[in-house]
Amino acid sequence: SHKLAVFASGRGSNLQSIIDQGFNIGVIISDKKQAKALEKAKEKKIPSLFIDPKAFSSKTEYEKELLKVVNEHNCNLICLAGFMRILSPYFIRNAQMKILNIHPSLLPSFPGLHAHQQALDYGVKFSGCTVHFVDEGMDSGPIIMQAVVPVSDEDTEETLVNKILKEEHRIYPEAIRLVVEEKIKVQNRKVIINE
Ligand code: GAR
Repeated sequence: SHKLAVFASGRGSNLQSIIDQGFNIGVIISDKKQAKALEKAKEKKIPSLFIDPKAFSSKTEYEKELLKVVNEHNCNLICLAGFMRILSPYFIRNAQMKILNIHPSLLPSFPGLHAHQQALDYGVKFSGCTVHFVDEGMDSGPIIMQAVVPVSDEDTEETLVNKILKEEHRIYPEAIRLVVEEKIKVQNRKVIINE
């Protein structure tokens, strides 16, 4: 059986889509006190915590606390949902569970911050979103699922954000389901799905 820890820094719309699909969420963690994601957690009476990075002497100490909380809540899968902080190799090596992330571009294009603006500036005709396992690189782990959206001349950052979010809300829960139902294996850093 599964129990998710969801890490979110902001709006929390991906968190909402995960909640709506009925996954068992053990804890929601944010690095931002004002994160809308924390309000959603409270509404749904899901345990939630603001863990302030500034309250720790180093990134490692901060990440130790994140791992402690995840373990205390007996979570066996971490889902990053707009968590705008890079987890260090320390965290990845010491996490006893798989870690998933959703990123608003067709990786390996446009990793990092401001993915939508990067795509618009480049002039791509299609963009989209990617759910992937988190490894020690930046948005570089094995890809589980992607969805494509067309980019038009009229698109702005805002319209592209919204188009892509719609797809994020569809594929993130689908990818999580594949992982919790153990329908996925990784071979030569490629994800193979056995439905
Ligand atoms: C989403 O678009 C997600 O793909 C992106 O942040 C947004 C969070 O929205 N993540 C990243 O850019 C990670 N580098 P949400 O808080 O409404 O789910």
